[in-house]
Amino acid sequence: MIVATKQLFAHAYGKYAIGAYNINNLEQIMGLFQGCINSKAPFIIQISKGARAYTDKRMLEAMIRTADEMFPEAIFAVHLDHGDEKTCYECIESGFYSSVMIDASHDPFDENIAITRRVVEAAHAKGISVEAELGMLGGVEEDIAVDEKNANLTDPFEAREFVERTGCDSLACAIGTSHGAYKFSGGQGIHFDRVEAIQTQLPGFPLVMHGSSSVPQDEVARINAAGGELGDAKGVDATQYLPAAKLGVCKVNIDTDGRLVWTRVHREFFRDKPKEFDLRPPGKIFMAEYAKFIASRNELLGSAGQLDSVYALKL
Ligand code: G3H
Ligand code: 13P
Ligand code: ZN
Repeated sequence: MIVATKQLFAHAYGKYAIGAYNINNLEQIMGLFQGCINSKAPFIIQISKGARAYTDKRMLEAMIRTADEMFPEAIFAVHLDHGDEKTCYECIESGFYSSVMIDASHDPFDENIAITRRVVEAAHAKGISVEAELGMLGGVEEDIAVDEKNANLTDPFEAREFVERTGCDSLACAIGTSHGAYKFSGGQGIHFDRVEAIQTQLPGFPLVMHGSSSVPQDEVARINAAGGELGDAKGVDATQYLPAAKLGVCKVNIDTDGRLVWTRVHREFFRDKPKEFDLRPPGKIFMAEYAKFIASRNELLGSAGQLDSVYALKL
């Protein structure tokens, strides 16, 4: 059942984080739903602009609606990831999304506020909530490259002013993570002192951590052993999800790790079966492996086992 993102945040705040997983295709959707049912976890399914354009946004919507029918026990929100203003309005109008992210973090502070405010007004008129972003994540964010050395961590006082002036419902903060498989090139990690300072300025307000993939080293090693060249890929320490959740991080965005599972399964499959050319056998393995991966992340996020108390809310 599709529910409001806000309702999931209210249940999770300060206790655990909701996994927000990016999807692009059928196999990811099947693995995600199965993994969340197996681990009894509420979740957020998120769709980027790139995912909407990969085939046709209507394909994803139809597949998600079908998965909802196939897995009636599932409780989830549907979210636009890294939207621009135009895409936010499209998603708000579509009636399918629980929440949208307006990412104007690359614009100057006042411009970011003005854009976010406009999106909030349109979204709230339709009962949809809005995630905004303040600060710059390191690494590559959609098509905007940001030098990790110059990454701007979110200023806690600006965060408070930003939330007051925009009326947004959750805030993606730059706290040391970056998108993709090559994080923390400066040897740093999550800046917990910064998360705590932001929570102090915004008590009870849901925070979002982008760039949260853990880039498991065994996954990287298996990909490289099967012909990949991922070099010194690294990610977030996944045992830090829960400590971050206790500081108000309600939503943890994971995309890259799912791509790594896909790459490992397909590289190993075709390396070991060079005569094979049917797409379904590796597709089946991927769905099962992705479901296992999702369940393991939900354990670390603390969302595993929460479904029964979410059902009790009668959303
Ligand atoms: O933060 C970006 C997400 O990982 C989505 O990536 O734009 O390649 O779909 P994408
Ligand atoms: P990763 O690249 O670490 O998976 O982050 C995904 C993300 O932040 C999507 O918005
Ligand atoms: Zn992101």
